[in-house]
Amino acid sequence: MSAKRQIRFNAFTMNTVGHQAPGLWAHPRDQMHRYRQLSYWTELARLLERGLFDGIFLADVLGIYDVYGASHDAALHHAVQVPSNDPLLIIPAMAAVTEHLGFGTTFSLTYEHPYPFARRMSTLDHLTEGRVGWNIVTGYLDSAAKNLGMAKQMAHDDRYDMADEYLDVVYKLWELSWEDAAIERNKATRRFTNPLRVHGIGHEGVHFSVPGIHLCEPSPQRTPVLYQAGASSRGRLFSGRHAECVFMCMPTAQLLKRSVDDFHAALAECGREKSDALVYGQALIITGESRAKAEEKLAEYRHYLDLDASLALLSGWTGVDFAKFDLDATVEYIENDAGRTALASFSKADPSRTWTVRAAAEFIALGGRGPVLSGSVADVCDQLVSWFEATGIDGFNLAFAVANETFEDVVNLVVPELQRQGRYRSAYQPGTLREKLFGRGPRLPANHRARQLVL
Ligand SMILES: Cc1cc2nc3c(=O)[nH]c(=O)nc-3n(C[C@H](O)[C@H](O)[C@H](O)COP(=O)(O)O)c2cc1C
Repeated sequence: MSAKRQIRFNAFTMNTVGHQAPGLWAHPRDQMHRYRQLSYWTELARLLERGLFDGIFLADVLGIYDVYGASHDAALHHAVQVPSNDPLLIIPAMAAVTEHLGFGTTFSLTYEHPYPFARRMSTLDHLTEGRVGWNIVTGYLDSAAKNLGMAKQMAHDDRYDMADEYLDVVYKLWELSWEDAAIERNKATRRFTNPLRVHGIGHEGVHFSVPGIHLCEPSPQRTPVLYQAGASSRGRLFSGRHAECVFMCMPTAQLLKRSVDDFHAALAECGREKSDALVYGQALIITGESRAKAEEKLAEYRHYLDLDASLALLSGWTGVDFAKFDLDATVEYIENDAGRTALASFSKADPSRTWTVRAAAEFIALGGRGPVLSGSVADVCDQLVSWFEATGIDGFNLAFAVANETFEDVVNLVVPELQRQGRYRSAYQPGTLREKLFGRGPRLPANHRARQLVL
């Protein structure tokens, strides 16, 4: 009899007040207003490591949600991912109080040259001793592009084309610029680095020119663990080529399964194996000591939801101004240059179901575009296992409703029950984040594009 597949958990958050549950910041027990304090992040990191989470995934956007009503007022009023601080800067503090937790940080490659970014990630990989990952995004907000000197964001597929070149540049810097034996650090010979073993990358492309060497010596993983979340046809081609971990969110198990299957097909097309990448499906867990207590908690949370805030979020994700539609109008797919998968998941992806604007806004109001799994601990574990088995995902990217109550419930109640069922690990693997995730070496495998480039 084969062993049961074990479920993985990632925590999904952002260096901001309201992430995927707009309105819940006003809940009396919510702690997200402390996002400006290191103590908030170090407490969270310790909690997640106690729960043996793979990692903390920090979302980020460089712009403001101003699509809804062509104004940023709703986003500001309800703290919809604004105010927001830089995600990279909180990582060293969390790394200092943990030993195993991974840090998947989002960074939009559209708005910064690859050369300084490659150095920042190498620095983080050194400081975390190989526990850093990069969620590769290209952005979806015109408001970001406008504040960075562009009239509007680049076209959807063109962003991915630029991203392909961006990755080639950073791969060359991380993987090829410094040979393993370049650093001698020899006080007797007084030679720190052998110059013959450090190479300029000579990159001359459509978007970037980088002739010189990487500024950092090789870090434990060299290339950080690569995360990605695009699921459009162009997005899938990109993730099939590059991603080691993929985040997906779909409102039904059927849609999630289709996305997982499509991603696995994209991996195969790029000469990679299913075992080369992990898929995390988004979910929000609401539980308590009993079913009645969980129901009470869910009702209490719902009291703080705010439709205006949800519509500001939904409009930003989809590029469609939902202020222009009646709340009872059916959501329709309108192609534009924002992200495509979010809108598709409430329209053309599942023709058997129609969503009104109100229903979509209410759905995302608690936990974003994934399901809410609620009930007693046993109920929640049944639902987790059922989604896990039905969709072929490797784990869950867990959103939260109330910080850090949601994650405390998961760590204190759900993890022990999953462990009892043989569905969750009881200890971390040693090594870097990549070693923990894939049980092999700290570097990308030989079939990955980054390892096939030559100078
Ligand atoms: C779970 C999840 C998390 C995401 N986090 C971010 C983020 O933090 N910042 C960002 O700019 N985009 C983020 N995205 C958006 C994706 O990077 C991508 O732009 C989006 O899925 C649309 O791509 P597509 O049209 O190829 O599907 C996220 C998407 C998902 C599904």
